[in-house]
Amino acid sequence: MLSEKYKNFAQMIVYQIYPRSFNDSNGDGIGDLRGIIEKLDYLKDLGINAIWICPCYKSPNDDNGYDISDYYDIMDEFGTLDDMKELIAEAHSRGIKIIMDLVPNHTSTQHKWFIESKKSKDNYYSDFYYWFDEPVNDWGSAFGGSAWEYCKERDQYYLHSYAVSQADLNWDNPKVVKEIQKVVDYWTGLGVDGFRCDVIDQISKDFKNGSNCFGPNLHKYINALFGRPETENLFTVGECWADNIEEVCRHAKEERKELTTLFQFDHIESCGRESKFVPKNDSLKSVRDILVKWQKLCYDNDLLYTLFTDNHDQPPFISRIGNDRELRYESASLIATMFYTLRGIPFIYQGQEIGTASSHYDSIDDFRDVESLNFYKIFSEQYGEEKALEMINFGSRDNERRPISWNAGKYAGFSTAEPWIPINSRFKEINLEKDLLSEKSVFKYYKELLALRKSSPEILFGDFELLSKPDDDYFVFTRTYEGKTVTVICNFEKTSQINIPNFNGKILLSNYSDRQNCCETFRPYEAAIFGDEELRKKR
Ligand code: NOJ
Repeated sequence: MLSEKYKNFAQMIVYQIYPRSFNDSNGDGIGDLRGIIEKLDYLKDLGINAIWICPCYKSPNDDNGYDISDYYDIMDEFGTLDDMKELIAEAHSRGIKIIMDLVPNHTSTQHKWFIESKKSKDNYYSDFYYWFDEPVNDWGSAFGGSAWEYCKERDQYYLHSYAVSQADLNWDNPKVVKEIQKVVDYWTGLGVDGFRCDVIDQISKDFKNGSNCFGPNLHKYINALFGRPETENLFTVGECWADNIEEVCRHAKEERKELTTLFQFDHIESCGRESKFVPKNDSLKSVRDILVKWQKLCYDNDLLYTLFTDNHDQPPFISRIGNDRELRYESASLIATMFYTLRGIPFIYQGQEIGTASSHYDSIDDFRDVESLNFYKIFSEQYGEEKALEMINFGSRDNERRPISWNAGKYAGFSTAEPWIPINSRFKEINLEKDLLSEKSVFKYYKELLALRKSSPEILFGDFELLSKPDDDYFVFTRTYEGKTVTVICNFEKTSQINIPNFNGKILLSNYSDRQNCCETFRPYEAAIFGDEELRKKR
C-alpha cells in the first residue's frame, strides 16, 4: 500500500518545459521564464498540476544549461532571480508545483569551483573534480570521444562523462556533498517543490568498472542529499538507467529516503529503435509488454512509477512507433491513453499535447545539439555525410528541442525574432491553433484524459489486471479500486476484433467519436476507456 504522502504524489501530473524553446516573451529568439508565466493559464487549462523546468541556472550553454556555472542564479537569456520567484508564486497560486532540474554530477568548466580546481593540486577546490596524471580507464564520453581531457594548467587529466566543458564532480569529497546540499536547500527555501535529478546514478564512481554508473557509494550520497529533515516533503525524481527491480527498489522505496521515484528507460531504449540513431521496425506490442512488466513490479513493491514517452533527449515517441502522418491524432491519443491510465505519475513533454512529430532537415547547420554535432562528425567519417545526416535526423535530441508551434504565423508564434534553432518544419500542419479548431484535437483529448484521470480513484490508485494475451495486437486492462472498475482498451496498428465476456461498462472516453460499446471491431490506434455510470456522471 502506498503511504498517504505517496498517494498525494501519485496525483501529480507533470509537464516538462524546455525553457529555451517554450515561449519567448522578450523577442530575442530564446524562450524565457516570463514566457512560462504567460502560459501558466494554458497549462492549468490542460490539467497539469506540476511543471519540471529544465536547467535555467547560469550557464555558458554548451549543453543547453546542463553545464552550470552558477547554481544560485538564473541564466541571462531566461531572465532574473526575481522572474523565477514570480514564476514560483504564480504557479503556486494556480495549484501548480515547481520542480527544478538539479545537476549534481557535473558543472561547467566555467564554474568557479573548476576554475580554482585547475589552478593547483593543493587549494580548497583541488579535489572538487577527478584529477589523474593519466586516464585511469577507457571510459568514453556520452557525447563521443574519450571521457578524459588533459588540462595544461594542472598538467593532469579530468573526467567529463559528457561534453569536454562538463567536468564530473568528485562526490567522494565531503565538501562537494555539502555544496550540493546547500544548492538544494537554497531553492527549497525559495519555494521549489522538488527536483528532477540529472544522471544521479553517476555521482558515485568505481574507476575499475566498465561504466560510470552505480558506484559503491551511490545510495549513501543520494541519501545524504535527500534523506535529511530539510528535504522530507520534497518530490524527487531521478534520471536513473537502472533496469532491474532490486536497484530500482534501492532508489525509490519510501523508507530508504533516497528518491520519490525514478525514470525507467526500458521502453525508450528498446522500442522503435535499434540504438539511439538507428530505427527499428517495431510494434506497440513491445511497449505494452514493458509497461505490463513494470506495472506489476512497481505494484508488488509499492513503488511509484513514472509514465512518460518523451523528453528533451528523445525524438517524439509517435514518430518512432506510431503513425505520425495519416493517423497522427489517433497515434498521439492512443499512446497517451496507454500510458496515462496506468498507475504512476504522468510526465508530459511540451508539445506532446498537440501531437508534435519529428521533422526533417537537409543540412547539419539546422541542428544545434552538441551530441548531434559530435556524432555527425563521427558518423560522417564512418558512413559518409548523407547517411550521417539521416541518422542525426532520426535520433537527434533537437527533434524535441525545436520551439513549440503555437500557431502557423512567423516563427510559429514562439517568438518575434528568429529562434535560436530552426522551428519544426511541419509547423503549418501541426500547431496549437490549428489543433484546437480541428475535430480531432490532440489537446482536447489530452485535456479530457487528464480530467478523467484526476477524477477516478480507480485510475489513480487501482489494482492493475491484464486482460489481453501476449499474442494479441492490442492492450486491454482493468484498474479496480474499492470494488469499482475502469477498463481500458488500446488497439494497435491493425484492425482487431475485441471481445470481453459479460462486459457492461459505459464509455467514458475514446479517440473515435462514434465509439459506444466495447465488443466489436476496433480500428487502427483506437483507444477507449469504460467505467460505471457514476464516473460517467462525474464527468
Ligand atoms: C541528461 C540530460 O537529460 C541531458 O540533456 C544532458 O545532456 C545530460 N544529462 C548531461 O547533463
